[in-house]
Amino acid sequence: MSKALEGVKILDMTHVQSGPTCTQLLAWFGADCIKVERPGVGDATRGQLQDIPDVDSLYFTMLNGNKRSLTLNTKSDDGKAIFTKLIEHCDVMVENFAPGALDRMGFTWERIQEINPRMIYASVKGFGPGPYEDCKVYENVAQCTGGSASTTGEIGSVPLVTGAQIGDSGTGLHLALGIVTALFHRTVSGKGQRVTCAMQDGVLNLCRVKLRDQQRLAHGPLTEYPQYPNGEFGEAAPRAGNASGGGQPGWIVKCKGWETDPDAYIYVITQAAAFAGLAKAIGHEDWLEDPEWNTPAARLPRLEQMFDEIEKWTMTKNKFEVMDILNPLNVPCGPILSMKELAEEPSLRDTGTIVEVDHPERGKYLTVGNPVKLSDSPADVARSPLLGEHTDEILREIGLSADDIAASKSAGAV
Ligand SMILES: CC(C)(COP(=O)(O)OP(=O)(O)OC[C@H]1O[C@@H](n2cnc3c(N)ncnc32)[C@H](O)[C@@H]1OP(=O)(O)O)[C@@H](O)C(=O)NCCC(=O)NCCS
Repeated sequence: MSKALEGVKILDMTHVQSGPTCTQLLAWFGADCIKVERPGVGDATRGQLQDIPDVDSLYFTMLNGNKRSLTLNTKSDDGKAIFTKLIEHCDVMVENFAPGALDRMGFTWERIQEINPRMIYASVKGFGPGPYEDCKVYENVAQCTGGSASTTGEIGSVPLVTGAQIGDSGTGLHLALGIVTALFHRTVSGKGQRVTCAMQDGVLNLCRVKLRDQQRLAHGPLTEYPQYPNGEFGEAAPRAGNASGGGQPGWIVKCKGWETDPDAYIYVITQAAAFAGLAKAIGHEDWLEDPEWNTPAARLPRLEQMFDEIEKWTMTKNKFEVMDILNPLNVPCGPILSMKELAEEPSLRDTGTIVEVDHPERGKYLTVGNPVKLSDSPADVARSPLLGEHTDEILREIGLSADDIAASKSAGAV
């Protein structure tokens, strides 16, 4: 079975998280991903949060699987000549440097098109054109400027960033979609194009339902928010604790063991269609005849009391027992799974969503494999490359002789 993106060559100038998540995804789908790194230095994440001294960090290894590494100083004359050959050789170039870095090296979009009109040139930046376009941006800056932090957290408390890397990995995912769309378009147009995705825009896209709520506010209180009916609504969509954000109320409730286990909780959604089963399971059959409880609209002003009653029941069971009882009743619920539980979950290993790979310097490590499954194009997850591991082989592929390679090395270009 062939890989879906086999034959696509990616010139990967990415670093840190956002760009590498994009190119790793394309590499899992079978693209040949050539990661260009500064000689002797490499992607800064190789050395960040190291758990084993002088060995590529998990930060790096988990974001750069299935790639090849070439060290190249793209600011030197020899390096620029090699870089030009790489642009001729590849289909897609991806970068997430600070704004203008590639231009400063002399590789503007105009220049890239001159070298290879079929090139798709994709970039992640913190912001799109506007007042902040020149700013450097990391994950949490994007979460704060994209509407996630202002709408995440406890009611009346500070804004919160989330553990899900929606700014970095989320934008990488958006960019990957832009790249495959441009590749598809190129089959018709014969031409490459510029693909850009700002982290602020990517986060805002993921916070779409909060912009929905912002507009609903003009027409009255948000009845599914915990602030309703007694709290105040201000001018902006507020933080809503663990409220579901959808039309079906939900909340996180304690389960047996919560006093000592920080993850002994479950999310329960009181979907209208399954409410009768839920009420019976928790011993509240009385709600089904009571007009104060037996319609979704009647329950809205008393959601806090309802979840308190549900919690009295869930606290008598562990989170997996609650799951086993409520799922057959069609009550959507989800135990709070810790990273330890996820790492040990056999079904995630079976599907390749969590994969163990072997690294020559660190030994075995776990990584998250490709969450997108294609029936005829399997994704084999391979380890990340060592710094410059493939320099010689890549230089040979783009036509450099042994003498050329030796000369570039002595000039410090590679
Ligand atoms: C992430 C970020 C804040 C890091 O900033 P930084 O560590 O200062 O790194 P920069 O991107 O500015 O790049 C540093 C320099 O290395 C240079 N460089 C990178 N690779 C090189 C190579 N192979 N050879 C020579 N020089 C190289 C760049 O050209 C740049 O030089 P310049 O400042 O003279 O133009 C910044 O890259 C950024 O804002 N990126 C866009 C948004 C983004 O993706 N953020 C999320 C990251 S997870």
